[in-house]
Amino acid sequence: MKFFVDSADLDQIAELNDIGLVDGVTTNPSIIAKSGRDFKEVIAEICKIVDGPVSAEVTATEADKMLAEGRELRKIAENVCIKLPLTMDGLKACSNLSKEGASTNVTLCFSANQALLAAKCGASFISPFIGRLDDISLDGLELIEDIRTIYDNYGFETEILAASIRSVNHVKDCALIGADVMTAPPKVIRQLATHPLTDKGLAAFLKDWEGTGQSII
Ligand code: E4P
Repeated sequence: MKFFVDSADLDQIAELNDIGLVDGVTTNPSIIAKSGRDFKEVIAEICKIVDGPVSAEVTATEADKMLAEGRELRKIAENVCIKLPLTMDGLKACSNLSKEGASTNVTLCFSANQALLAAKCGASFISPFIGRLDDISLDGLELIEDIRTIYDNYGFETEILAASIRSVNHVKDCALIGADVMTAPPKVIRQLATHPLTDKGLAAFLKDWEGTGQSII
């Protein structure tokens, strides 16, 4: 399973990347607004840190303007992935950008039929938003399962990028279902490493080791 960081925080991205946990990055207009940074500058800086795809989202709503924005964003770096909303215009822009060889991420997916359309339009990634479905008492994980089945039924190569992940259980469940990628905030990725028994066990080992008076180096 690939791990993407859902953030524009350069320090956090770099720290997780140094650990070896970052296969890509996703941003959206809200994340960029929160960063307080210039959009193109911050995307360029993320692209220098991370080798994998870095999603940068268009903000136009008409296909021809989305296409123009996508082409502009592609100039930032080779690993920019153009993120497009799941609308008919977004799908049209996705088809065209994919034909031009761009990496594309179709976002704001909330149904299996939407995911089917994105795959037909050649999207590199489809981003179903699990947390936002859970927020309205629907089942985000069921959507991931349905998309996995549909893509496998027809051999679609579009990668399922589980998004809007809010908890470590979301990550585990997506991995069990077979999502290709998950994107999560840095905090959730860090939480994956923690377990109280790990802390307790390590403290006991270190105490016993101290009692031996030895050192490895
Ligand atoms: C993914 O591409 C989105 O940026 C993100 O996962 C949305 O998450 P949220 O629903 O927590 O805002």
